[in-house]
Amino acid sequence: MLSARGLAHRYGGTTALDGVDLTVGAGGCVALLGPNGAGKTTLVNLLVGLLPRQRGEISLAGGDPRNASTRRWLGVVQHRWATPAR
Ligand SMILES: Nc1ncnc2c1ncn2[C@@H]1O[C@H](COP(=O)(O)OP(=O)(O)OP(=O)(O)O)[C@@H](O)[C@H]1O
Ligand SMILES: [Mg+2]
Repeated sequence: MLSARGLAHRYGGTTALDGVDLTVGAGGCVALLGPNGAGKTTLVNLLVGLLPRQRGEISLAGGDPRNASTRRWLGVVQHRWATPAR
């Protein structure tokens, strides 16, 4: 269902990810744990297509998460959200 190979990401001179591989099968449930600044948010943002890929490959449900046709199959709830106030 999800396959990531060799993901690397930098913000200017800061290396956030350097060679991350991850595979999640259909029905799989994954918890991503790590200290502050480990790169968890960066990884998730790449996997769901919120960040453009710099290096590595991502396949989500057989497609590129940056493509709208792939994201049709994706639901994301961020750890912070807001609903419109009346
Ligand atoms: N927009 C950004 N600009 C510059 N550096 C960033 C940016 N976002 C993240 N970083 C840096 O990239 C590294 C990984 O950050 P990231 O937010 O992905 O880690 P995290 O594991 O989600 O951390 P936390 O547990 O605090 O949420 C850190 O060194 C962070 O300072
Ligand atoms: Mg985070």
